[in-house]
Amino acid sequence: MEVIICDTDAEVGRVAAAAVAQSARAKQARGGDPVLGLATGSSPLSIYAELARMVGAGELDLSRARGFALDEYVGLPPGHEQSYAEVIRRTVTEPLGMDPALVAVPDGAASDLTEAAQRYEAAIVAAGGIDVQILGIGGNGHIGFNEPGSSLASRTRIKTLAPRTRADNTRFFASADEVPVHCLTQGLGTIMDARRAVLVAQGEQKAAAIAAMVEGPVAAYCPASVLQFHNAAIVVIDPAAASRLELADYYREVYADKPAWQRF
Ligand code: F6R
Repeated sequence: MEVIICDTDAEVGRVAAAAVAQSARAKQARGGDPVLGLATGSSPLSIYAELARMVGAGELDLSRARGFALDEYVGLPPGHEQSYAEVIRRTVTEPLGMDPALVAVPDGAASDLTEAAQRYEAAIVAAGGIDVQILGIGGNGHIGFNEPGSSLASRTRIKTLAPRTRADNTRFFASADEVPVHCLTQGLGTIMDARRAVLVAQGEQKAAAIAAMVEGPVAAYCPASVLQFHNAAIVVIDPAAASRLELADYYREVYADKPAWQRF
């Protein structure tokens, strides 16, 4: 796991976007179309802003890239502005110049959610797997909506949101009661299959989860800790999110001492 501590959120976005763009361009150089795993929420917004800048400047072309959202609420009516299908359309597909036909979100309105989850897994496989998975982290250590206790080998499935997750996401809804209780989420096994994982976190409210993920034991209690087993996981965080890392100075030193070609 590579930990990169950046001074500002803008720098978090720049570094993480550079890692995502590197994976995308490498796939294109091999004659393929990149497959991106897409997180919603506040954390990746600076990544998407930077990727949109690159696309606008002609430095990156994602018009043929495929996208797979990490998760979706269950029970919101289609077109609800807080459904992740809508959030992904507004914050990712349109600003990044992606083709909406190539961007998928789990179907949280399906009558058969188990079947919808299996279809989603099959679609990821059919696309050749995810090249680079963009991730945020919940204050309780979730990635996707894999809440504490999730199987480290889980696949896309229905989950019940933890009380803390529902409380954290109340800010997107008119009241706490409106936050859905269930979701469909890529599993931890699904996320681990991505060729590269880029996780971003900002703010003191993420510091405990980041410390547990990076320096704690690998345990379902902190689902993100499974990334310790990933061979290409990059964690890009600001100083507040890094504030409970015992080895923060070492991670800073490692990154500063890298040759320029290994940095982002
Ligand atoms: C979003 C997702 C979640 C969020 C996490 C952090 O698709 O899967 O894991 O990344 O809840 O949310 P923010 O970034 O809003 O703090």
